[in-house]
Amino acid sequence: MENDINERNLIFDDIVRTRRSIRVFKDDKPPKKYIEDIIEAGMLAPYAAAAVGDSKDFRHFYVFEKGTESIETLALLMEKKAAEGVKHFEGLIKEKPFIKSKFEPFLNRLRMISEKGVPGVTTAPFFIIVAELRGVPPAEQESLAHVLENMWLKATALNLGFQLISLTSQMADDEQLMKLLELPVRKYALNGCAIGYPKVNPNPTPRPDIQKTTKWMK
Ligand SMILES: Cc1cc2nc3c(=O)[nH]c(=O)nc-3n(C[C@H](O)[C@H](O)[C@H](O)COP(=O)(O)O)c2cc1C
Repeated sequence: MENDINERNLIFDDIVRTRRSIRVFKDDKPPKKYIEDIIEAGMLAPYAAAAVGDSKDFRHFYVFEKGTESIETLALLMEKKAAEGVKHFEGLIKEKPFIKSKFEPFLNRLRMISEKGVPGVTTAPFFIIVAELRGVPPAEQESLAHVLENMWLKATALNLGFQLISLTSQMADDEQLMKLLELPVRKYALNGCAIGYPKVNPNPTPRPDIQKTTKWMK
C-alpha cells in the first residue's frame, strides 16, 4: 500500500515537473486514441456545479485537424479577430496615450497574429477548442482552466506537446465561429490548445522559490 502511494506520488511529480509549453510541433499525427484520452482527462476536470445548475450540457470539445477546411476557417476567423483587436487598441492608445506602455506588448502580439496567423492553430496536427457553459455567478473561465490543465498533464503523460492558445477565449462571442461549432452565441466561454509531438523539448522556465513565496500563517 505504502509503495503504491509512493509510486503514484513519484509519477505525479514527474508529470507536473516535465510539463512544458510546446510551440513547435513535428508533422506526425498522434493517434486518435491519445486525443480521445486527453479529452477524457479534460471532461474529468471539476465544473462549477452550483453555477450551471442542473445542466448536464456544460462542456463540449471540438477537434480540428491540420489541413482540413474547418481549421483553415478557424485560423481566418482568429486572424480577423486579432486585426479587430489591433484597430481597437490603436484607437484606445490614440485617445489615452498614457496607457501605451501597458498595452504595447499585447498590441504587438495581436499585430503579429493578424499578419502571420495564430501560432499553433495551423501548425500543430490537432487543435482543440473547449466550450464551457456560462453560469451564475460566472465561473466558466476557472472551469476551463481546470479542463485545460488536466488535458495538458495528460498530454505530458503521453509524451505529447501542448500549447495553450488563449486568444481562443476572445472568440466566444464570434457569431461565425459559434455557428461553426453549432453553439448558441453568448452562452458558452471558450479556450483552446494545440497538440502534437514536440519538435524541441524546452528547458523548464524558472519559478520563484516556494520558501520565499510562502508564509505559514500563525
Ligand atoms: C492564462 C494563460 C494563458 C496563456 N496563453 C498562452 C498562449 O496564448 N500561447 C502560448 O504559447 N502560451 C500561453 N501560455 C503559456 C505560458 O506562456 C507558459 O505557461 C509560461 O511561459 C511558462 O512556461 P511553461 O508552460 O513551459 O512552464 C498561457 C498560460 C496561461 C496560464
